[in-house]
Amino acid sequence: MEKYLLIGNPVSHSISPLIHNEFFKLSVCTKKHYAKLKIDPLNQNVVDAFIQNDIKGINVTTPYKRDIIKYLYAVDDAVQIIGSANTLKLSKNGYIGHNTDIDGIERTFSTQEITVKDKNVLILGAGGSSYTATYFALKNNAHKVYIANRTTQNAQSLKKHFIIHKFETDIITLSLEDIKILTDVDIIINTTTVGFSALVGQSIIEEPFFHNNTLSFVFDIIYIPTETRLLSLAKKFNIPYQNGFNMLIHQAIKGQEIWQNVKISKSTSNNLINTIHKKMFIRNQ
Ligand code: ATR
Repeated sequence: MEKYLLIGNPVSHSISPLIHNEFFKLSVCTKKHYAKLKIDPLNQNVVDAFIQNDIKGINVTTPYKRDIIKYLYAVDDAVQIIGSANTLKLSKNGYIGHNTDIDGIERTFSTQEITVKDKNVLILGAGGSSYTATYFALKNNAHKVYIANRTTQNAQSLKKHFIIHKFETDIITLSLEDIKILTDVDIIINTTTVGFSALVGQSIIEEPFFHNNTLSFVFDIIYIPTETRLLSLAKKFNIPYQNGFNMLIHQAIKGQEIWQNVKISKSTSNNLINTIHKKMFIRNQ
């Protein structure tokens, strides 16, 4: 049996095992299995044990996406720039780290035929996902990136992190209060937890913002609920929008492409998206 793992703390609510094991089923890989493991703490011994147990591929989730890097043999460019890894592949020298969250965002935008090139992008949040969203906007030549965050210091740290990479896009940091003065935003990406769990029904962006800006796309990284208040507002104003479900599946698909060293077809990807969507959101199927 070829073994794959999700590691993090907590991991109990993760649907990664569902996605990857469903992928193995669809691809008729009966000898591959994906499990989850709560790790506390993460250290060299833990990583050595994965190598000794021949764990071929590992997904890393909160809170270890940054910490894992020091235990890796090599990392790809995205990991180097973003500063976090979510996918590890076993090589003869140890694990190689990749960031497939960036592919998740890129594929979500490209399947919607949305590009950030020359656009003004407002990113809400300055946590881990915001670093990925910011890199996405910078590498695809957005005109301006606004980073708005509750704790402005975190937004400033994010800006500082990217400035050394010398992208041409301007990064402007804002408080959540300052968002009200913006009038030239084309695309919103919400990476905060506002709209999720205890904050369900809430949105950082309110109706006047939709009147004051000519938006062309709203992306919320949250996928439960499938329509956050932010996305309901986008719908109300007839702005194309998307939740984070496809990003979640696409980052997993990219992970499988790395692990299995194959290109996964659009039809397999769509098949996986539909199967997981049914299992997660449609009862009695
Ligand atoms: P992730 O790794 O998913 O990005 P994270 O690193 O915990 O998660 O980041 C959560 C983001 O949501 C942060 O930008 C956080 O703002 P702070 O930097 O001020 O903590 C934001 N966030 C969480 N709760 C919030 C709230 N009630 N109002 C506004 N922003 C909130």
